[in-house]
Amino acid sequence: MLLDGRRWGLRIEYAEQPEPRGIAQALIIAEPFLDGASPVLILGDNLFYGGNLAAALAAANVRVDGGTIFAHRVKNAAEYGVVVIDENGHAKSIEEKPSVPKSPYAVTGLYFYDNRAVDIARTLKPSARGELEITDVNRTYLDRGSLDVQLLGRGAAWLDTGTPEALLQAALFVQTIEERQGLKIACPEEVAFRAGWVDADQLERLAAPLAKTSYGRYLLELIKEHE
Ligand code: G1P
Repeated sequence: MLLDGRRWGLRIEYAEQPEPRGIAQALIIAEPFLDGASPVLILGDNLFYGGNLAAALAAANVRVDGGTIFAHRVKNAAEYGVVVIDENGHAKSIEEKPSVPKSPYAVTGLYFYDNRAVDIARTLKPSARGELEITDVNRTYLDRGSLDVQLLGRGAAWLDTGTPEALLQAALFVQTIEERQGLKIACPEEVAFRAGWVDADQLERLAAPLAKTSYGRYLLELIKEHE
């Protein structure tokens, strides 16, 4: 549970989307929270791993103008937003769930935008499935010549967790890597500690109630390693 994030040195607030009216509606719902700032949007059921991800995200985050999307090769591109990338790495076209995909590159559920995104979302009309499509936001940036597409190479993993089958596959992937390396993937306490959002004393307090579990022991081990 993320709660308000305070114990990890974060501040998390929530806003509900009362009905499934599309990913782009999140931008409109978030408007008061954003208060003119540039949004980053990530789908809760998308899992990203590896491939210099942290550096790619940091680069997208400092871009002031335009949007940045991340593409990844998939077998079943027809189930996703599909982007065609030219030889210079620029997006040429972007389509939502085309029956005949023009490329194998799916647009992943991670979007960095400048502060025009909310206004763009407001101009959209619902699609045939009754949703404000994030692909239409991306296409607007593309038409304005300000969409950057970053290819997550084959060394990266992009997994869904939106169905029981996909969740199981993702869990097996995470377990395999964690077992082999002895490092956890996306352990919030560890991320906060390494980023300096919590110190060793705070981490110890977070670990204490979990000390009898392998998770708690992992956190305590981090403190020891750090000393
Ligand atoms: C949504 C987007 C699609 C994107 C996908 C990533 O699809 O509409 O462009 O490729 O997320 O997970 P949906 O989950 O709404 O079918």
